[in-house]
Amino acid sequence: MQDMIRVGVVGVGRGRSFARGTGELTGMKLVALCDTWEERLEQTGKEFGVETYTDYDEFLSHDMDAVILANYFHQHAPFAIKALEAGKHVMSETTACYTLAEGVALVRAVEKSGLTYMFAENYPYMLFNQEMRRLYQAGEVGAVTYAEAEYIHPDPAEVVMGRSPGKDHWRNWIPATYYCTHSLGPIMFITETWPEKVNGFVMTNPSDDPVTQRTLKYSDPCSMIALRMDNGAVVRLVQVRLRGHGVWVRVHSSRGLMENLRWGDRSMLRVVREQYHEERRYPEEMIYKPDFPEYHAQAMQAGHGGGDFFTNYHFAQAIRSGDAPFLDVYRGVTMSIVGPLAYRSALNDSNTVDVPDFRREEDRVAFEADDWRPGPHPDQPAPSIHGHLQPTQEQIEFSREVWRKTGYDGE
Ligand SMILES: NC(=O)c1ccc[n+]([C@@H]2O[C@H](COP(=O)([O-])OP(=O)(O)OC[C@H]3O[C@@H](n4cnc5c(N)ncnc54)[C@H](O)[C@@H]3O)[C@@H](O)[C@H]2O)c1
Repeated sequence: MQDMIRVGVVGVGRGRSFARGTGELTGMKLVALCDTWEERLEQTGKEFGVETYTDYDEFLSHDMDAVILANYFHQHAPFAIKALEAGKHVMSETTACYTLAEGVALVRAVEKSGLTYMFAENYPYMLFNQEMRRLYQAGEVGAVTYAEAEYIHPDPAEVVMGRSPGKDHWRNWIPATYYCTHSLGPIMFITETWPEKVNGFVMTNPSDDPVTQRTLKYSDPCSMIALRMDNGAVVRLVQVRLRGHGVWVRVHSSRGLMENLRWGDRSMLRVVREQYHEERRYPEEMIYKPDFPEYHAQAMQAGHGGGDFFTNYHFAQAIRSGDAPFLDVYRGVTMSIVGPLAYRSALNDSNTVDVPDFRREEDRVAFEADDWRPGPHPDQPAPSIHGHLQPTQEQIEFSREVWRKTGYDGE
């Protein structure tokens, strides 16, 4: 039997699915958990039967090979850098970096360490995205000209506020363009193109939205991002809190179209190939449910349409082989910085902003001090395109009531 990779997980919310995904198949063994929320940590520690830490530095001194970061969205880069400096391989949840300067620092830290860094973007590994990648990389549809991806996730007010305990919780204030890797990740994965230019558009929900009326938020609910990719293709991304729940990807290429279905079984694929001026090999339109390229049965049991199995699997494979994973630090940082760049564009009449390439030293130097950090406090750039929003009494009272019920009694 192969030696198990000993792994510790930070954050016992989302982190639980990483913890569950360790085991024989991925070749990883959970050995420690870290969280500052003691009660939840203790419960999860008992459930998994591993050591627990409330202090990240002490956690890093635990005897283990790798760390999986599922702590707060805007704090991953400094945690990743610390872990690399402590000699641990790192897999990090989205977002890889909150600022451009953090992106530069992270890329440098990974290179210096010689260790594995993987960006845990699971949406590319969903069934239909893996099938689109297979077709695209086999040359079955030609080169991308235009693509669209949507990550749309509305919820009732109780769920929205239950997931974001405390007025300073990141889900209450990250700008509307920042959660863009669930939509951009699949496009970069399928086509292997990189974004070069970005325009951002941020939308506000009309005041008759009953969820908005009840939820305490300092930022806007949704955004549209337009990208020019390095092969000239145009990409449109839409996220997050619009009505009409769904995850949808569509790729128009020079010889065909691929998309997952918008209704019925949404993991099914629709492929249209007119086959003009070429030997006819396929029906013009095919609608089918693919298998995962490998580990189909195991992936079908995992969360997020199978994506959660493959992030753990590829992380372990990368550590064992010493080869960087597809979702390496360069791709992770690139798809993450589209968020802040699109927000800057949105604040500037949606002008076009260049996306730096941190594989290049001159781009690193240009952004290494760019620590622009929108947030809820008055001394930070405002997280809403409308400035620093003031929640209404109704929003404050409703949200506090939800937090009390879920065991959070802070402000
Ligand atoms: N890829 C996906 O499908 C997916 C799904 C859900 C969440 N996420 C990501 O996972 C991350 C965590 O999200 P979540 O839903 O669990 O909610 P969350 O951000 O509220 O949970 C973070 C957890 O980390 C803990 N934490 C915060 N600071 C810490 C510190 N200094 N030391 C130790 N622990 C600390 C918190 O107490 C909390 O339990 C976010 O980045 C989110 O974007 C990804």
